[in-house]
This record gives sequence, structure tokens and C-alpha cells, in this order.
Amino acid sequence: MFDPKEIRKDFPILDRQVYGKPLVYLDNAATSQKPRQVIEALTDYYQRYNSNVHRGVHALSVEATDRYEEARQKVADFIHAPAAESIIFTRNTTEAINLVAYSWALKNLHPDDEIVLTEMEHHSNLVPWQMVAQQTGARLCFIPVGEHGALDISSLDTIINRRTRLVSIVSVSNFLGTINPVETIRDRARQVGALFMVDGAQSVPHMPTDVVEMDCDFLAFSGHKMLAPTGIGVLYVKPSVLETLEPFLRGGEMIREVWLDHATWNDIPARFEAGTPDIADAIALGAAVDYLQTLGMENVRKHEIESTAYALERLREIEEMDILGPTDAESRGGLVAFTLGDVHPHDVGTLLDSDGIAIRAGHHCVMPMHRKLELAASSRASFYVYNTREDIDALASGLKKALDYFARSNRTGA
Ligand code: ALA
Repeated sequence: MFDPKEIRKDFPILDRQVYGKPLVYLDNAATSQKPRQVIEALTDYYQRYNSNVHRGVHALSVEATDRYEEARQKVADFIHAPAAESIIFTRNTTEAINLVAYSWALKNLHPDDEIVLTEMEHHSNLVPWQMVAQQTGARLCFIPVGEHGALDISSLDTIINRRTRLVSIVSVSNFLGTINPVETIRDRARQVGALFMVDGAQSVPHMPTDVVEMDCDFLAFSGHKMLAPTGIGVLYVKPSVLETLEPFLRGGEMIREVWLDHATWNDIPARFEAGTPDIADAIALGAAVDYLQTLGMENVRKHEIESTAYALERLREIEEMDILGPTDAESRGGLVAFTLGDVHPHDVGTLLDSDGIAIRAGHHCVMPMHRKLELAASSRASFYVYNTREDIDALASGLKKALDYFARSNRTGA
């Protein structure tokens, strides 16, 4: 049975106090906490078999290589990838998207080609394409955001057209929470022969993912948002597209033979993992995947719909609350961004923090969408497997307290 109160026991950090109050961690869209099983996978590597991979003939190196490659297989199974070779380990989502920008887009795009994104992309799936557009002469086009943070796909057939070479969209917005119509957009991308990339940073950790069903050419996501350590991310590439990619970074590990003036490339995926990889964190990502598989991703998603529905209910009790994004929990990922009357989001965040409640305040790496909504910043609470109704109750009480505090300060002119 999926019980967040039991799950919490695996997360040592959730026992800590902040300013003498129990920690209420609601900043999971920024990064998740790590269970003991993941922390132990890290210490086990460093205490028992720390060694480089793919290079040594000694026992430790063989063990490290086996565990590193096992982790790749676990990640492949987690997203139903047809082959472990289609999983490239990167540092994070941003690096995974940059890999596609440098290895495919810079080599293949020309003036007047078009790259289609959405207006709600976080900077990771925007700034690399700005660089590609500047260097190749390709144009950026955007699917607009309409009512309640949903994509307005009424002009999709015009936006995605014969000039479109790549469509790259976020599956779940880290700001509005919107779950985007990935299949509809993919179908249109396929009709015009464009490659299709999904930024899964906020979806892969939270719901079942099947890349065969999704039929994407690229899927990027980060380990640290799904219980794994920072410093490890993933780029899935469809096998038929993999062979057409140029290496991204060059150096050790990614070569087959090197002469003084040229080199040939290693097999895939080593070709895309130059230098000593992040071995410990990849192995720990494997442990995080094991943990999530044991919970069951259907259950993770169900818990998140329940948490989000409850949060929407509790936050709507506050008159000054303006909740951004879709109105129902089923259409959203496990996060709620909002503004609270005239109180600045940073003040909201600081006051909640003084009660031990961690949320994110700011632009959440999505400045253009904030600008479109005429907001400089917003507050965001985001949920994961260990969050309980009590956490959400604490958030609602903390917000009411913040409002009272500012009402009092305004009255007294303090
Ligand atoms: N993009 C991450 C977030 O939403 C960092 O907080």
C-alpha cells in the first residue's frame, strides 16, 4: 500500500528541524529529497568498489562498470526504452538538451528552418535553442499559452509546418503545472517530418513514462528530481536517430582510436559520454529507479493527483489567493504556483521558511511566461511521494499567517 507516512521514514532529512520547527519540504519541483537506499548506494560505491569504469581489468573496475551499466538498463526499463544503448548519461536536463542542440541542431539546421517550442518552456529548453537560432539562422516559433495555462493548439498546423525541423516541448510545466498534449503535438511534428523532443524534467519523476508510446526522438530528464543525487541526468535518444548524432564533448572514453591529427569514435552510448562519467551518481540513480519501481509509478501519480487536489482545495479557501495554471488536479503535475494578494512571493517564501516550510519563490527559471502573465515572480509549492495532507495543511496555515502579518504591518505602517 502507498503510504506517504511510511515512505517518509526512508528519508532521513525529513526528520530535521528548521528554526526549531519540523521541516515541511514543498520544493520538490526544484529538487527532491533522497531516501536512505539512494544515499547507501552512494556510500557503498565509495566504501567498497570506487574505481573507474570501462578501463580497468581489476575487480573493482569490473564491479563499477557492471553496476554503472546495470543502472543504464534500469533507467531504460523505467521509461520503456527499447535498448540500454539509447540512454545517455548527462549531468542534468539542461545538459541533455544542450547535447541535442550541439550534436544535432547545429549540424543540421539552416537559415529559414524552424524550431517549435512552447511559451511555457523553462530556460533549459529555450536558451540552447536561442543559441542554435543565432548560429544557424533558424527561427524559433512558439505554441502560445491560452486560458488557465493550457497550450492554445488551435493554430498548431500553421505553427508546425514544412519548415519545422524540430519540435521540443515540456511535458509538464514546472511553473503552471500544465500537462501538455504531447501526442497531439507529436502527431503534427510527424506529419511534417520534424524531430520531436520532450523535456520530461517534471513528468518522468512523477508519472509512468513509455518512450515507445510517446514516440519521441529525444527525452531529457534529471535524476535529482526523482530521488537520485544531483549531477546525473538522462538523454534518451530513439535508436534510429542515435547513429546520426555527432559527439558532443570530445576526449577520453568517447574514442575508439586516436592519432595525433584525428580520432575515431567509440560505440554508442560511450561516444556521448566523454571523460570519466559520474559513476557514483549514475549507480545511485539506479537505486532511485528501484525505489520508484517498488512504489509503482501509477501509485506515485495517484498520490500526486490527490495531493494537488487537496492543495487546490485548501488554497482556494484563501480569498487573496490567485492560483496559476489549470483548475483541476488531473490536468496538472504535482505542483501549484500562485500569488497571494499584494504580498511579494519572496516575502511569502521567507515567512513560510520561518515556520520550517520550504517552497520556491521567484521566476522558477521561466521568465518569459511570468512576463506574459505580467508577473515578476510567483510562489510555488510542489509535492512528491513523501508529502502528506498535514504538509499541505501547514502550507495553508502558513499562508494565512503571512497574510495576517502583512495586513498588520500595513495597518501599523511597520
Ligand atoms: N527548473 C527547476 C525548478 O523548476 C530548477 O525549480
